[in-house]
Amino acid sequence: MKLTIFSGAIGANVDGIDLSQPLDAKAIDFIKSSWSEHLVLRFRNQRLNDDELARFSKYFGELDPPGPNPYGINFLPDHPEINVISNVKDEGGTPIGNLGDGEAVWHADMTYIDNPPEAGVLYAIEVPAGQGDTHFANMIAAYSELDSELLSRIEGKTLIHDAAHNSAGMLRKGYQEISDVTLTPGARHPIVVTDALGRRALFLGRRPYAYIMGLDVDESDALLDALWKHVSQSKFNWKNEWQKGDVVMWQNRMVLHRRDAFDPAARRIMHRTQIKGLSPIVA
Ligand SMILES: [Fe+2]
Repeated sequence: MKLTIFSGAIGANVDGIDLSQPLDAKAIDFIKSSWSEHLVLRFRNQRLNDDELARFSKYFGELDPPGPNPYGINFLPDHPEINVISNVKDEGGTPIGNLGDGEAVWHADMTYIDNPPEAGVLYAIEVPAGQGDTHFANMIAAYSELDSELLSRIEGKTLIHDAAHNSAGMLRKGYQEISDVTLTPGARHPIVVTDALGRRALFLGRRPYAYIMGLDVDESDALLDALWKHVSQSKFNWKNEWQKGDVVMWQNRMVLHRRDAFDPAARRIMHRTQIKGLSPIVA
């Protein structure tokens, strides 16, 4: 296996491994340590069926079934642990997957639950060339470069993470729109988190409907806007320009991701697994 570290603040490419085959302990350890260090790993030219994608993902933890989607559909009844990310509709006009073709703003996945997923794995089955790139941002690096003024303003603060909307901004089934963010439904997490290695990171989840507890709404909005401006700087980012056969895995608790919009007439199909978070977020 060959690891090539990307030039930005996050991510590395791994060559020389076929993820459709069972992996030995040495290969799994190599992936785990590289992933821990670089937070995002990409493997190109893979050919996986759903069983193989699930087997590979399970080397890194228990799988987490997808959260509720706006359509109330189980997209892969034979593999309920795998989510489908797609804009494609079947002949009857029913979506085969989640999240459409629009832009998905910066977010981490399912931070609105008490134990958010540890990681995500995306496998590109069909992708339009040059569109719908996915960007990843290193929240350990972003935390380490916060100025002292912002650091002092977030010290000890807790953030409400919105459960009502998905990352494309669509209302999830069973939720209602709210206008007062102090009433946002969803988990509360410390705004600065520490991982098992003692690394500290900003943990922002997503911007819409977020609220920093104990502050006036205006003050919370201003502070969140300042934090999001900081983390959105390109120096913390790397983007994957998708090719069919790409597998990209990221540490969900230390990394934000977002997706560019793409042509609605293009077809984009990805299968995605999620590694369950077994513990609360720790300050
Ligand atoms: Fe996501």
